[in-house]
Amino acid sequence: MKTCICPGSFDPVTRGHIDIIKRAALIFDKVYVAVLINSSKKTVFTVDERVEMLKKSLYLNDNITIEGFSGLLSDYAKMKESDAIVKGLRSVTDFENEFQMSLINKKLNPNVDTIFLNTKAEYMYLSSNMVKEVAFYGGDITDFVPPEILEQINSKFEKTRNEN
Ligand code: PNS
Repeated sequence: MKTCICPGSFDPVTRGHIDIIKRAALIFDKVYVAVLINSSKKTVFTVDERVEMLKKSLYLNDNITIEGFSGLLSDYAKMKESDAIVKGLRSVTDFENEFQMSLINKKLNPNVDTIFLNTKAEYMYLSSNMVKEVAFYGGDITDFVPPEILEQINSKFEKTRNEN
């Protein structure tokens, strides 16, 4: 059985992430979506909230498992005996960061290769940061996030706005 890992911060998950994960699930028998810690990012949603949002968005896909993991992606891949890490690419900037990460992960775990899937053109501009920026100011994020979690994201930012 061929398995892969779709790792990320998913703060929050976007329609672009969902597209990549679903395409990975067509190629591999089993996909582990790993909500990990990116030490250079401060998150708005807790790991549990991010896992919950992914589960709500992907509930129809029975070869996809979603979980949080606090540690190295290379160790997670070892634990899952996974063949590949799948990441989405939107731009040359993405590529530079992702290429570096893929080389580090290969060094730490020689059994795992990173595979890149190009984003769909309609999601090229989309990022979790952009979703957060628009939602923070009360803008419409309907086209950016899965419908199952739209309300949860909006209510989080409504609370944040009321606190400020
Ligand atoms: O969605 P992101 O923030 O681009 O995902 C980056 C992520 C979370 C996959 C990356 O930061 C990661 O793998 N974190 C776990 C810790 C780790 O393994 N770091 C070394 C990889 S360079």
